[in-house]
Amino acid sequence: MTSSISHGKIIGRDNEAEWLVNTLLSYQDDNPVSIVSVVGVGGIGKTALAQHVYYDTRIKDNFDVRMWNCVTDLFDEFRVTKEMLESASSSRFRHDGTTNFNRLQVALKARLASKRFFLVLDDVWKNENITTAIEQENWQKLLAPLQASEKGSKILMITWSKMVAVMFQSSNIVSLEPLLVNDCWSLMKTSIFNETNQNINSQLEGIGLKLAQKVSGLPLAAKVVAGHLRCKYSVDEWEKVLLRNAVWEDIMPILRTSYEKLPPHLKQCFAYCSIFPRDWEFEAEQLILLWIAQGFVQLDGCNKMEDIGKEYIHDLCNQSFFTIQKKEFVTYYVMPPVIYELAISVGTEECFRIGGDKWTRIPPSICHLSIHLDGLSALDETIPYKNMRTLIFLTSRTGPPMTVLEIELALSSREDDTRSWSNFLVYFSHNVMPTIGVGDTYL
Ligand SMILES: Nc1ncnc2c1ncn2[C@@H]1O[C@H](COP(=O)(O)OP(=O)(O)OP(=O)(O)O)[C@@H](O)[C@H]1O
Ligand SMILES: [Mg+2]
Repeated sequence: MTSSISHGKIIGRDNEAEWLVNTLLSYQDDNPVSIVSVVGVGGIGKTALAQHVYYDTRIKDNFDVRMWNCVTDLFDEFRVTKEMLESASSSRFRHDGTTNFNRLQVALKARLASKRFFLVLDDVWKNENITTAIEQENWQKLLAPLQASEKGSKILMITWSKMVAVMFQSSNIVSLEPLLVNDCWSLMKTSIFNETNQNINSQLEGIGLKLAQKVSGLPLAAKVVAGHLRCKYSVDEWEKVLLRNAVWEDIMPILRTSYEKLPPHLKQCFAYCSIFPRDWEFEAEQLILLWIAQGFVQLDGCNKMEDIGKEYIHDLCNQSFFTIQKKEFVTYYVMPPVIYELAISVGTEECFRIGGDKWTRIPPSICHLSIHLDGLSALDETIPYKNMRTLIFLTSRTGPPMTVLEIELALSSREDDTRSWSNFLVYFSHNVMPTIGVGDTYL
């Protein structure tokens, strides 16, 4: 909302800010209005960057009118138009309680006629309940009054999803990358001590840097962690924060909102990924086969299942749930650490990993399980397999993947009814990184 813009100092985004200002000042095409999009996962600093740019003097000088609008997922054309009008009017716009959308549009058009405007549309989401064509039409209708404005007018669109940026036919799209560790640490120090150059003892500095690494380049997470360190000055207290999971618990509800907005088929595909270890490098073909085996991939009558699965991966990348990593000629997909925590938190009832760093009881409703054989000896409960549909074995050893026989040998001292395990849909061994190779698979 208009009231939510504030002008704060930002850290570690000089290049992105310069690029954005220059792009917004340039005239690239003949359209009176062009759209530039900033894409990135929640809390990475999209809004902060846009605010910084909004208040840049070059931007203030170049545009006759600046407007800020927070759209949110509750798309409401009346509210958005009213707020644009209020934002564009120096004195508060008196809409006299009008409920007439057309009247608002006429007023907005008159306000922007022959003016060069800069509009920020913050927090734009894709509506999964309508087709892209209908959604594009809705937006075209909403933005129609802006078309009479002066050439060089710009819309800066901020979104989690690259699909939205593409839907808007953005002339430029910038994806925000995580902040560097040192920048996260500077941000944390600013937040804890109100200045970046605070001299602190080397032990605290060491713990602070470790915490800065944990926040995965996410300014929001850095601020949450900093909040836990404020008014604490002893090494003991800082170490406790380093060990606590509470930090994630604070961030999780924010990330969960984005998960809730995924369509159901992507929700289950995403949660399923939590049975793999942290920093796991997924290969598309392998993951898609697992999704297909689970019945997560829905046929659309014209495409092959594998191709639909590829689209799912593409969609998850576009929504910042996966990042792409290229090594030599192979493309891998990786979940950023906070996103991995999110997958674990949403998959709790059905997905589980034995051998992770946290140890909790296996939920009786478990459907998908991965077992690291090194962690198996510490497991003193039998594995509930009533609802089981996936069982994946992981080992740390390098070389060829384990055979089914070797796995059965490793399990032979346990009281689990291993004979019934062959009923599960997928049963295969897999090496832990860095060597990745699919072993025996049987249905
Ligand atoms: N580069 C930065 N320097 C200092 N503080 C930052 C920086 N980037 C973000 N922040 C702060 O981190 C918090 C989260 O950033 P912000 O709200 O911009 O994230 P976002 O990407 O817009 O998230 P969402 O998608 O949930 O809206 C805010 O308090 C913001 O002020
Ligand atoms: Mg934001």
